[in-house]
Amino acid sequence: MKIGYIQTSPLFGDKKYNFEEIEKLISGIKADLLVLPELFATGYTFVSKKEAVSLAESQEGETAQFLINIAQSTGAIVIGGFIEKEGEKVYNAGIMVSNKGVIGSYRKIHLYYKEKLWFSPGNKPLKVFNVDGVKVGIMICFDWIFPETTRILALLGADIIAHPANLVLPYCQKAMITRCIENRVFAITSNRIGEEKRGDDRFKFTGKSQITSYDGEILSSAPEDKNYVVIIDIDIQKARDKKLNEFNDLFENRRVEFYNPIVKLK
Ligand code: ACM
Repeated sequence: MKIGYIQTSPLFGDKKYNFEEIEKLISGIKADLLVLPELFATGYTFVSKKEAVSLAESQEGETAQFLINIAQSTGAIVIGGFIEKEGEKVYNAGIMVSNKGVIGSYRKIHLYYKEKLWFSPGNKPLKVFNVDGVKVGIMICFDWIFPETTRILALLGADIIAHPANLVLPYCQKAMITRCIENRVFAITSNRIGEEKRGDDRFKFTGKSQITSYDGEILSSAPEDKNYVVIIDIDIQKARDKKLNEFNDLFENRRVEFYNPIVKLK
């Protein structure tokens, strides 16, 4: 199975420019699964909720259509971040599409920093999408710091975690090694590069998009400062065997009777 990511450098608020840059990057590419960064069409550093609302779309919007076009030209299932509008609320979301249309969305449940001012927290359960027999779970950026997110997706059967990101802290790429080892899943962390200075905030995004294997091996690591596309071949079956050795199965060996505090304690 051929999986990959597109690392980009969005211009804030300029969807047309951001779409065109991606079209140039993916010219001639073929894949089965492609992941784009969080908020790849809009940029990240909002200064008001009104601004986030003005850039929000439904699942029938131009960003979804752009991703469907990519799915058609590459042959891939494509996942990317967008601002999803529903009623009065806007969500920091990821959308998954095929060449036939929208498959579904995920709304980020762990919002980072001032995202809490602009977005409503995700209101739908974590979900694994079965696409032609491959099970793909979506989480977005800061979700990585809550190990429960990856764990639940893995317990729901995910083979691969699609992880659109706009990372600003230096930890995630290392943490994903552990997330993948402990769950024996593949992960595609698709990050952005560049800086945004807007209002009182200045963010430098860390690049280094990464594909991490079920055994913690880093299969691809992008530069920290360049747009970048990579496609690699993986054997998805490896994510379906949770046995570390003949005595230890990472899912069967769980002692759930001792895990209550995880859901009970605040
Ligand atoms: C982040 O969650 N975009 C830092």
